[in-house]
Amino acid sequence: MTQRVLVTGGAGFIGSHTCVALASAGYVPVILDNLGNSDPRVLERLRQITGSTPKFIEGDVRDRALLARIFSDESFSSVIHFAGLKAVGDSVADPLAYYDNNVHGSFVLASAMRDAGVNTLIFSSSATVYGEPESSPIPEDAPRRPANPYGRSKLMVEEALNDLYRSQPGWRIALLRYFNPVGAHESGLIGEHPQGKPNNLMPFVCQVAVGQRDRLQIHGNDYATADGTGVRDYIHVMDLAEGHVAALKHAQNHGELVTLNLGTGKGASVLEVVQAFERASGRSLPYEIGPRRPGDVPAYWADPSLAQATLAWQGHRSLDQMCVDSWRWQQANPRGYG
Ligand code: NAD
Ligand code: UD1
Repeated sequence: MTQRVLVTGGAGFIGSHTCVALASAGYVPVILDNLGNSDPRVLERLRQITGSTPKFIEGDVRDRALLARIFSDESFSSVIHFAGLKAVGDSVADPLAYYDNNVHGSFVLASAMRDAGVNTLIFSSSATVYGEPESSPIPEDAPRRPANPYGRSKLMVEEALNDLYRSQPGWRIALLRYFNPVGAHESGLIGEHPQGKPNNLMPFVCQVAVGQRDRLQIHGNDYATADGTGVRDYIHVMDLAEGHVAALKHAQNHGELVTLNLGTGKGASVLEVVQAFERASGRSLPYEIGPRRPGDVPAYWADPSLAQATLAWQGHRSLDQMCVDSWRWQQANPRGYG
């Protein structure tokens, strides 16, 4: 029987790519999104890739009445919960907005699921729950010391879902801690388009390459890393999307809660990303070295072995592939979906 999956935040960057992976695995995604950080034109792009337009419900995950209606009108096998806010700086400036959206929103969703008897939930957590790690690769049982309200909002939800799992038999939950998702679907039809000046490296690099910004500022080259620049575990968003399908299958087949790192296990420095992007685009990328960014961790990457063993999944697309796909999307859509 075809399984319908409610995808909160499914119009966003990772959610839209996961809708593609769900559709190609035979699931039917239904998107709930308030469009606070996304564009409804993504739906037509999803149709072009998958052959059908996903059902779209415009609304907020914190709207109890709406969620009760959604779960009573339709039947879902499971929920993948992406909806949330993700800008670290904004979370420091307005923590209540982050706790309201990310924590309260998750509670409203889980309550509606409990009331409707839907007990399979995949949750978007983040490597940011580790804060500054003692060492890398980071295993899942490393200390969790998030350094900002965004990270704490993710950890609070993880802990609440652990309590829920312990309190009631039957829940099937996967808490997925993403490292640094980048790239785009290989069609170039969907990708990431941040509003305003990008905070993250890859969207900034894309905008420099396409000529929308003069140069990249590298935030420090005096870290204790091989070339002095920050090191991260970049993972292709389609690998991440496929990881969600694997986590969903695992959750459906095992009545348990799992907490898994979704990363590649390989670190790349800012300069390595710049060089890979230059290869992908055939353009040289102007950059300057600036000061360290406050709050930045010098280097971290995942120990992905538990996810690999549990899900029989691993991120296999290379950094070059991530850059090729980001560049294809950026060139074809310099203003996003507009
Ligand atoms: P995104 O902003 O592109 O997607 C989030 C989507 O959720 C958007 O479409 C937004 O409109 C929607 N949304 C936000 N609040 C909502 C609400 N209250 N009700 C309904 N819809 C709402 O972000 P993304 O990069 O796709 O991230 C998805 C999830 O993964 C987030 O929870 C984020 O915290 C988490 N995550 C992202 C990263 C990353 O680097 N992108 C890393 C780790 C974890
Ligand atoms: C950021 C978030 C983190 C989130 C992650 C997801 C912060 C403090 N942390 O982390 O919570 O989970 O994104 O992808 O925002 N860099 C530059 N120049 C730039 C932009 C970035 O040199 O213009 C460097 C950074 O210093 C860092 C690397 O590029 O070394 C990656 O930065 P970024 O993409 O912002 O990701 P994170 O710092 O890992």
